[in-house]
Amino acid sequence: MKQYLKLIVLTLFAGSFAAEHAYASIASGEIWRDDRGVHINAHGGGILRHKNTYYWFGEHKIEGKAGNRAHVGVHVYSSKNLQDWSDCGIALNVSNDPKSEITKGCILERPKVVFNEKTRKFVMWFHLEHKDAKPQPYSTARSAVAVADEVTGPYTFLHSLRGTPENWPINFPEEMRNQFDVKDDYYHGSASWEEKAETHQRGLAVNTCFHEGQMSRDQTVFVDDDGTAYHIAASEHNATLHIRELNESYTGYTGKYIRIFPGRYHEAPAVFKREGKYYLISSGCTGWAPNAARSAVADDIMGEWTELGNPCVGINPGNNMGPEKTFGAQSTFVLPVTGKKDAYIAMFDIWSPGNAIDGRYVWLPIEFADEGFYVPWKSAWSISSFEDMEN
Ligand code: DGJ
Repeated sequence: MKQYLKLIVLTLFAGSFAAEHAYASIASGEIWRDDRGVHINAHGGGILRHKNTYYWFGEHKIEGKAGNRAHVGVHVYSSKNLQDWSDCGIALNVSNDPKSEITKGCILERPKVVFNEKTRKFVMWFHLEHKDAKPQPYSTARSAVAVADEVTGPYTFLHSLRGTPENWPINFPEEMRNQFDVKDDYYHGSASWEEKAETHQRGLAVNTCFHEGQMSRDQTVFVDDDGTAYHIAASEHNATLHIRELNESYTGYTGKYIRIFPGRYHEAPAVFKREGKYYLISSGCTGWAPNAARSAVADDIMGEWTELGNPCVGINPGNNMGPEKTFGAQSTFVLPVTGKKDAYIAMFDIWSPGNAIDGRYVWLPIEFADEGFYVPWKSAWSISSFEDMEN
């Protein structure tokens, strides 16, 4: 009885909160409340549009430094207008079983969900570090897949994987293959960043991980117009991005993959397509601390990719950070807005590693120019500022 009363009170409160607090704008960097009045807890997230509704999936963080690890799972919210979000609960729960790969206390980052038209399944990819990863907390460097029949879940953990063992990247020249016999502890030793970058350009990790499979850390998934999906992940000790074609069910790889920007240390990849061209927003590699955003363009997702530079413009008055620190944030996803003309939202996270649950979101509309695109700072803007698509 008590439980029912609690539910009724919560529902009434949530209803009145939602009615009184409809958002007139996207207020980047601020507390962003859901229909229950609670700051949205979906970090490193991505959005899937399904049946006229947007679903925002992201890392559920808890308070304190402990929140940098997964104690709950992946949270999902829904919205019709991209400004007002309803809490749909936990889409993927971490496990209480200490033997599970996604046991409580593992690191589960940057979840992205796509829908597979053929299997009618929702497929979630995320970056996984086992709870007991050794020698470093980020040594697992695997991707993991969970599937569901309903968009909000529950998602069931399927497997974790490395980028196709025993396969060379298609753009990795013959003469660079089978070249190295260097132990992995090289990376935790005294080599400078420049030395490491140079060695990565020559494909050291591709060789050392050839049998076990290529690493994956920061990641995203992109589904092309023809239904082919791609996994884009920071590999080779974060030195090089890999773009890997997914199989028909989107739950594994075909084995076809490329490496891009070897030794450039891109993290936080977000890929989108506009007028036949593929674009990438990413970051440099400085842990939780912000750095300068990067961007790139390609005519074919499998390359050649060309770097374009930092797309950010302006200053975030909330922290006085500009392009050199990506407004204090780091990219996570780019959302094309359905029904709106040339409307793409660049989504970023302002991390709060000391109190992870307090991480904030920065959402900005992308502006296009002949030579590429820009992401100008806007303190408050509305989705209605996008022009409607002509029918
Ligand atoms: C930067 C990544 O983009 C985040 O997802 C997270 O892995 C942190 N590094 C951890 O330091």
